[in-house]
Amino acid sequence: MHKICLLPGDGIGPEVIDCAEEVLRALPLDLEFIRADIGFGAYEGLGTPLPDSTLDAIRSSSAALFGAVTTPPAIPGYFSPVVRMRQSLDLFANLRPCRSIPHPSSRPNIDLLIVRENTEGMYSGIERMEENGDRAVTERVITRKGSERIVRKAFDLAVQSGRKTVHLVHKANILRLTCGLFREVALEVSKEYPGLTMLEMLVDTCAMELVRAPEQFEVIVTTNLFGDILSDEACMFVGGLGTAASGNIGRDAAVFEPVHGSAPTLAGTDKANPIATLLAAAMMLEHLNEMGYAGRLRSSIENCIANGQVTEDLGGSLTTSQTARQVIQRLN
Ligand code: NAI
Ligand code: MG
Repeated sequence: MHKICLLPGDGIGPEVIDCAEEVLRALPLDLEFIRADIGFGAYEGLGTPLPDSTLDAIRSSSAALFGAVTTPPAIPGYFSPVVRMRQSLDLFANLRPCRSIPHPSSRPNIDLLIVRENTEGMYSGIERMEENGDRAVTERVITRKGSERIVRKAFDLAVQSGRKTVHLVHKANILRLTCGLFREVALEVSKEYPGLTMLEMLVDTCAMELVRAPEQFEVIVTTNLFGDILSDEACMFVGGLGTAASGNIGRDAAVFEPVHGSAPTLAGTDKANPIATLLAAAMMLEHLNEMGYAGRLRSSIENCIANGQVTEDLGGSLTTSQTARQVIQRLN
């Protein structure tokens, strides 16, 4: 039995999460669902966008599936529940798979996994103003522990998914100390994986190579800011926001989500594309070691796309709920 914590959130979040629940319930799996509050709606109702009870609910579950939240205009004391969730649960690995989809907008033969460090680097949160506000400083923090666990995660995922190469992406020629440490740790860890080839690439070269020949990459492992940028770049070759999914993995918790936000203008119109969330659900099943069901779900989604059974953003005419039903019909 797997206990799944659903985090609907705001805007189209609840609509796409409802679809995912319906689709997951259609699989012959022993799943238990609980729901918890997050986002601006939670703030309005409960006084906080991320109640402690939500963090407890995620910790007590096998995995969580998160929709999206709305960021309100400046409210004093308001904080990003997504960033806080990643910090509180120490979700150190951000996974962004980029896989070709059977759609004219997608480039062919891409099956890349980007593994991004999610807790330190340029997003350490350590910032200050100096010289009476004329000099701003952000500290880029890289630790041996942080580097080791993210590189190990990338290598383990490469082995599990039968991939042969891992690109280590950095800028150690300029950022000699921080990227230098990241690189040094990666070279050490790579010795434990003789079946994998680690290739090094500077981040600017990688940005260029991703556009030129994305199919050359199998796994990319990199630091926080670089991974944030490269993963948004890469998802545009394989369908964009309507189909991009991600996972945030820690030692004791895992949260899967579509990359898109709460799309307020689409909320309540039944036009949101649920596929990004359904692909996040497939990633979640993989994480729960339900490889067969993950594959079945992904095939059903791809079959819908190939047959034009999709929402308007992908050129189809189905509603959110109709798309979910089409996916369910193809599960068997
Ligand atoms: P957004 O991702 O919500 O929307 C960007 C564009 O993509 C819009 O044109 C939207 O209609 C379209 N879009 C998004 N998801 C779609 C879907 N499933 N199907 C079809 N079209 C889709 O980003 P935006 O507009 O910058 O932000 C809206 C709100 O979401 C803001 O409050 C922002 O702070 C929040 N946000 C939340 C995120 C999260 O919860 N992880 C991530 C990004 C933004
Ligand atoms: Mg981003």
